[in-house]
Amino acid sequence: MSKYGEVVDVYVPQKRSRSGKRFGFVRFRGVRDLQRLLYDVNRVHVETGVIRASVAQMRTKGPSTAAKENQQSIYRIPDNTRPHPTGSYANVAQAYGEYYYQPAHGKDQNYDGSTYHQQPNHPESENNEEDSPGDQENEDPEAPQLTIPTLLDNLFSDGLLSFGHYHNTCPNAESIINRKVTEWFKKDKTLAASLMRLHFHDCAVNGCDGSILLNHEGSERTAEASKTLRGFEVIDDIKAEIEKSCPGAVSCADILTAASRDATVLLGGPYWAVPYGRKDGKVSNDKDADLVPKGIEDITSLIEFYQSMGLNVLDLVVLSGAHTIGRAACGSVQYRLYNFKGTGKPDPSLDEKYLNFLTRKCRWASDYVDLDATTPRTFDAEYYKNLQKNMGLLPTDQLLQSDPRTSPIVATLAAAPSVFYHQFGVSMAKLGNILVPAIQDAGEIRTNCNAVNSKY
Ligand code: HEM
Repeated sequence: MSKYGEVVDVYVPQKRSRSGKRFGFVRFRGVRDLQRLLYDVNRVHVETGVIRASVAQMRTKGPSTAAKENQQSIYRIPDNTRPHPTGSYANVAQAYGEYYYQPAHGKDQNYDGSTYHQQPNHPESENNEEDSPGDQENEDPEAPQLTIPTLLDNLFSDGLLSFGHYHNTCPNAESIINRKVTEWFKKDKTLAASLMRLHFHDCAVNGCDGSILLNHEGSERTAEASKTLRGFEVIDDIKAEIEKSCPGAVSCADILTAASRDATVLLGGPYWAVPYGRKDGKVSNDKDADLVPKGIEDITSLIEFYQSMGLNVLDLVVLSGAHTIGRAACGSVQYRLYNFKGTGKPDPSLDEKYLNFLTRKCRWASDYVDLDATTPRTFDAEYYKNLQKNMGLLPTDQLLQSDPRTSPIVATLAAAPSVFYHQFGVSMAKLGNILVPAIQDAGEIRTNCNAVNSKY
């Protein structure tokens, strides 16, 4: 555990929870990477099942109450380190570096959103029932309280999604997805970037409903904009495996969302918790897929497109950072090299050496070139530094640097890679939670990700 941070104390009460499960608390200080810690701990298997870990929500008490209490209170947060009360998971992580998590053994341990709202009991307190409100009863109701929301508080998309969705119907879904993505990744590392892109193209049209996976005449998948999408066979393989253990339970949209997260982690990117319950849509039209940005738009169009998905300018700049890995067909960028905007000349904004490199690399439209000019196989913030050096491959990438609405964010992410790393997980979680209620209402759990179950 020490590789994650300093373990301050561990407490496992004699009592079990009401459902007979063991539970306990581990208190950390100086956590370097909370998301990695949660990811790793949630993959630990013990004899009786799996460990389910969550970050307990922290609260601070007002000075009057705090003064009466033991200085060791695990709820107390020193005044001088209080973050903004609406701070995200990421900036709470940065502000504190001190977390509690509550592991509990057992396959059917509750792991839905409610877990995250529990108050941890003081390890030395007599009252350590899992469902006990701890010392809340003694609180001064007038005392100011600070509730720090975590990323997980924002994830429920109007109640359509939950962390415990497959808890009874397919408890192994996440581990099957993770195993399969890892297997495919070992065979072909380039698939990880393709899965992330596939997920974006799914969520950008009708929300995350697996509509990109439908393979019939005139479907999104057959659109011009989808021509170079890859990774469909990975989703089909995962679906077939999951159907063996839990037939008809897990949607293709959920599989793609989790696979994209696992692919990000395999590339060295952040982990984020995925809530489940997406339905597979029955509608998929190529014309809709052609509305997904192609790399030739202006920033206003990109901002508007993101706004239509419920995402903001920060999400736009941060998610474009996915271009830190992966590649583009030269056909997407050749016009920048020879005849930019009908001038018969290259795009003047391109760095000269980079232009030379691209001219040599992109002789044929069918050739491929890395999206990140310097570290194409590493998930890092170099992509933003490249933009600052006029070495962005797609015009839409380069415009993030020149437009005053986005350039300050590029500068921040270039200077602080850890901010990019954490915010990428936050923005990806938002992307994965885009749902269109009417499509969800009419949706289904497909048996085969390539076709709707039945038209009628
Ligand atoms: C501003 C919006 C975006 C535009 C205009 C855009 C455009 C593109 C283009 C033109 C390509 C190259 C496709 C090809 O020629 O094969 C590409 C690749 C890629 N995009 Fe984006 N993209 C955007 C947003 C995103 C987002 C939000 C993600 C993921 C979260 C993403 C992930 C990727 C990845 C990983 C690749 C490489 C795929 C591979 O190697 O197979 N993109 N993007």
